[in-house]
Amino acid sequence: MNYYNGKTILITGASSGIGEAFALTLDKLGAKLILTARSKDKLVDMASHMNNAISIAGDLSKKEFAQSLYDEIKDKKIEVDIVINNAGYGFSGLFLDSSMKNYDEMMNLNMYSLVNLTHLFLKDMVNKKSGGIINISSLASFQPMPFFSIYAATKAFVTSFTVSLYEEYRKSGIKVLGVCPGYTKTNFNKRAQMNSIPVAGYLMTSQQVVNQSLRAYEKGKFIIVNGKINKFFRFITSIIPTRLSLAFSSYVIKKGMSNKQW
Ligand SMILES: NC(=O)c1ccc[n+]([C@@H]2O[C@H](COP(=O)([O-])OP(=O)(O)OC[C@H]3O[C@@H](n4cnc5c(N)ncnc54)[C@H](OP(=O)(O)O)[C@@H]3O)[C@@H](O)[C@H]2O)c1
Repeated sequence: MNYYNGKTILITGASSGIGEAFALTLDKLGAKLILTARSKDKLVDMASHMNNAISIAGDLSKKEFAQSLYDEIKDKKIEVDIVINNAGYGFSGLFLDSSMKNYDEMMNLNMYSLVNLTHLFLKDMVNKKSGGIINISSLASFQPMPFFSIYAATKAFVTSFTVSLYEEYRKSGIKVLGVCPGYTKTNFNKRAQMNSIPVAGYLMTSQQVVNQSLRAYEKGKFIIVNGKINKFFRFITSIIPTRLSLAFSSYVIKKGMSNKQW
């Protein structure tokens, strides 16, 4: 029997991209799923084609939604084994090119709700001495990224938080994994106002990211940088001078911003 069969798994951002691939894959592996995102109709349709899934739609950029999601799951007497905090978005441009409203929403979604859901569900997991958290971070978490500054900073937060959490709870029977994909073909670039085809091309599919991440979680790893090329990028940017890595990431993001075709 596979590891995920029969496990109850909450997936945020399940309506598209990497989250959708997690949902479709885990459904095939026999998991019971709780799907959440804002796109209610899409989630209802997805759940109706799955073996054992429900959907609870809502907006995780609103600080109250994490608590009401948790309460609704508890009201249904469902015990969650794994939380996949995947929902997130970025915005490309000069810092002053966007409003504080946009940054508030991004920080609430990428950081606040991720922490809140972790806090709520981890308590239950620690009580039963089993369960785990998978936080979707990014390759962007390892270095500052001009023209993508708030997004990269939110992901630096996610990676740091996740790795610390792993160490705090690994002896309590809890698995904690941070997932760091690079460019992956999803709707991410559209919302980030970047070209549909990144400078370096898409390095991975959502399915590849999901397959690697599920294997890493099962093995009890604390961090995965998805794919060999992304691992190489991470290594290179960690050894070159900061000015050089800033110049490199500026070039990549600006190039992506210059052609916003979809
Ligand atoms: N694609 C990449 O190149 C890449 C690289 C590194 C990391 N990542 C990370 O991977 C994760 C998934 O992104 P993706 O690439 O799969 O992008 P995506 O296709 O745009 O999917 C984003 C998901 O998040 C949900 N979401 C967005 N805003 C939300 C909100 N306010 N409340 C609740 N759900 C919300 C979206 O659903 P609704 O619109 O229905 O709400 C969607 O299901 C993100 O955390 C992203 O930062 C992506």
